[in-house]
Formats: sequence, C-alpha cells, structure tokens
Amino acid sequence: MDRREFIAKAAMVGAGLGASPFLVRGANKKVNPSDKIKLGLIGCNGMGFSDLSAFLNNSECECIALCDIDAGVLQRRAADTEKIQGKKVPFLYKDWRDLIDNKDVDVVIVGTPDHWHCLQMVGAAQMGKDVYCEKPLGNSIEECNIMVRAAQRYNSVVQVGQWQRSDPHWQDAVDFVRSGKLGKIRTVRVFSYQGWCPSIPVKPDCEVPEGVDYDMWLGPAPKRPFNPNRFHFTFRWFWDYAGGLMTDWGVHLLDYALYGMDVTAPKSVMASGGKYGYPDDACETPDLLQTVYDFGDFTVLWDHAIGINDGAYGRTHGVAYVGENGTLVVDRSGWEVIPENVNGQKRMEAVPFKEAYGGGGLNLHVKNHLECIKSRNRACNASIEIGAHIAKFSQLGNIAYRTGKKLYWDGASFGDAEADAYLCKEYRKPWELPLI
Ligand SMILES: NC(=O)c1ccc[n+]([C@@H]2O[C@H](COP(=O)([O-])OP(=O)(O)OC[C@H]3O[C@@H](n4cnc5c(N)ncnc54)[C@H](O)[C@@H]3O)[C@@H](O)[C@H]2O)c1
Repeated sequence: MDRREFIAKAAMVGAGLGASPFLVRGANKKVNPSDKIKLGLIGCNGMGFSDLSAFLNNSECECIALCDIDAGVLQRRAADTEKIQGKKVPFLYKDWRDLIDNKDVDVVIVGTPDHWHCLQMVGAAQMGKDVYCEKPLGNSIEECNIMVRAAQRYNSVVQVGQWQRSDPHWQDAVDFVRSGKLGKIRTVRVFSYQGWCPSIPVKPDCEVPEGVDYDMWLGPAPKRPFNPNRFHFTFRWFWDYAGGLMTDWGVHLLDYALYGMDVTAPKSVMASGGKYGYPDDACETPDLLQTVYDFGDFTVLWDHAIGINDGAYGRTHGVAYVGENGTLVVDRSGWEVIPENVNGQKRMEAVPFKEAYGGGGLNLHVKNHLECIKSRNRACNASIEIGAHIAKFSQLGNIAYRTGKKLYWDGASFGDAEADAYLCKEYRKPWELPLI
C-alpha cells in the first residue's frame, strides 16, 4: 500500500493515521556527517524558496525535490535552485504526496499557504522526515494539537519558521526584560503596521490559470471558483486559508511578548476592529485590529493596521515591554530602553539603540535546525511546541474578534458554543484531518 492509498484508506475508514510501522521508516535515521542532507520543498513561490535558499547556504545541504501546484512557479524555482547549487533538481512534483514518498528526501520544507501545513507536516513526519514548517504552524487550534502529537509520535525534528527565535538581539532584549530593571511591567504592546501592504481591489472570478492545479491548491479548504485575490500571497487575507495579520505577524511578535514575560495562558481575551481602512476591498480579515489579552496583573495588547506605517515609537512593528521604570522596545532592526520620565525625574538610565547582529535570523534559524537534525534533538529554537502554542494564542485573538465576545480559554475550550465552533475547521473531502 503506498502513501496515497493509505491516506485514501484512512479517510474511508476514519482511522487514525500512523498505525503502520512502515510509515516511520527514517524517523530515527542517523545522519552520517559525510552525507548530504537532502531537501524537498513543497510550495516554492515565496517564503518556501527563501527557506530553501537559506538551507542551501550550508554546503552539507542539497535540494533533490521541489513540488508546486503551479507549473510556472515550479519551473522558475527549478531553474533558480540549479543556479544556486550548480546541479539540476532531479525530482519535480505537482503532487506533494509524491515528494514525501521519495525515500531519499531527509528534510521537507513546507512553504505552502497555512491551510496546507497540517496535512503536509503530519504526512512528512509519518514518512520519517524532519520538517521545516512555515508559520503559523496550523490554521486552527485543533490542527496545532495534531501537529504536535505527530512530531512527538514520529520523532520528527521540526523547526517552525519563526526565525526571530534564532536572532540573537531578540534574546538579548528578553534577557534585559527578565532582569527586572524595567520595574513592574504593566503591559506589553505588540504592534504590526504594514504600510507597504496594498488594499486588494475586488476582482471577478475567472478561469484557472494555465498550469495550475487549483483543486490541489484548495485541498481541504471549501470549493469555490478561482479568484486571483484568493491565490498566491494574498490568500492570507481570507479566512478559509489563513488568519490575516493577527496570525501572520502575530506569531512572530506575540511569541516574544509571552517569552519575555515567561507566561503562557491569558485569563481572558477580547478584540475589536474591522475593515476600517478599506471597507470595500476584497479582503475578509480586518485591516485594523486591537486584541487585549489579560494575564491578571498585566496585559498584552496586539495592535495591527494595514496601509499605514506609524505603529509606535517611530517603528512599523515591534514589541514594547512597558515597565514602571522604562520601556524596552525591540523590533527586527534592534532594541533600546526608553526611561520613564515622571515629574522631571528619570527612573532609570536609557539604553541606546543596539542594532541587530549575527548574520540574519533566517540563516541562523536554519543552522539551528540542521544542528538539531544531526543530534536528533527535538528542542529546536522554534520547536513545534513553541510554534503550536503561539499559533493557538494568535487564533484566540481572531476568535475573540469574530465572535465579538470577551472569551475565557481553559486550554481546551472557551465554554462558549459559538467560540468553540472555531476550534477546528471542516476539511473538504477526500481530505481528512489526521487523527493523531
Ligand atoms: N517566516 C516568515 O517570515 C514568513 C514570511 C512570509 C510567509 N511566511 C509563511 O509562508 C507560507 C507561504 O507564504 P507565501 O507568502 O510564500 O505564499 P505564496 O502564495 O507566495 O507561496 C505558496 C506556494 O505554495 C504553492 N502551493 C499551494 N498549495 C500547494 C500544494 N498543495 N502543493 C504544493 N504547492 C502548493 C503555491 O502554488 C505557491 O507557489 C505561509 O504560511 C506564510 O505565513 C512566513
């Protein structure tokens, strides 16, 4: 029985995946230091290819397989990859199941839209692969839970694409926050203002572009006519495939709010916003949103806007830990501390801006993954447990927005039928949520 038959059979009988021992072929495969680590990329257009390029900066890596449902993207990236590694990519696939069936692939990079991550990551783990999975890890709370269980069961070393976790200046900022010098922290203001992001004009549905397997792009998402707005890149503004900026940037930045404060679960969450910038454009997700997570003695405030750049502290994005003595602000470019100045009295010394260093978070993140693969250490800098936690935390914000309610999350349920209905997305047949 090959992989495809297995998936079909599992779907038919509603069986949990993973009962067959043959599926765990290489999970504990030893990597010989002289071996090349062989990569396969699923979803080649945007970030997936940036990830692959970062892997190929390491001479121990070689790309042997690419997969995309868009023939134009696949051919373009095959040529780009050949140029980088000076060697043709031997396997080009339209169907991702063929890539994960390829016994020679050691590491699968999942660079597809969010609604595909769960099936592809779980499938790859079952086939004994290690996985670099783009963020947000899953597209629903239930998917995230399943993905964690799959990585644990199949001993897959998974790095989630939250590359700021490997960027050293973010860690330095967290160390400062945890030193206590800021005094009691009352709020963590997390903001993402994307001025460069254009509004998306409404476009009519149209024919599927030549060379595109649209049914395989939709996968488990609901069937609908092809529309160019709901495709490459801009899929992220539609609920069927993603969660808008709240999950797109939220997972990067909110992760540091929680990590800096050393907390996990809020007491409550509520959100407000909407399509206030571009009420008539095509996007479904809000172009303006504020979400408040209450932790009992401090809050985390998520604040996003599309089409304007002026977030806070003269920055477009960042995490600001607002303490009684001062505020530490960190973003992708570096960090600084702005002292509280009350009645002409500074409560602490300023820390002048410290620039990011280290050679780039993505490169370091990939290197960390490679080290973990070689030592069979599942505790990557952005392990699947970290990725799942923050993807779920960001989902809470969207669920609060979509229900308009103040919600109380107990780790498994809101105790509110309307909110709980968002915990899991229905899969379009023949795709089935993997039952791990
Ligand atoms: N870590 C980061 O900093 C970062 C930055 C940008 C995007 N991302 C994440 O990367 C993912 C991809 O985003 P993007 O902007 O690159 O999207 P994109 O639309 O530009 O690229 C996705 C590619 O996946 C392909 N694809 C879709 N379904 C497929 C399937 N079933 N099999 C094979 N290929 C398939 C598409 O044809 C397309 O080429 C998203 O989850 C996004 O959140 C992460």
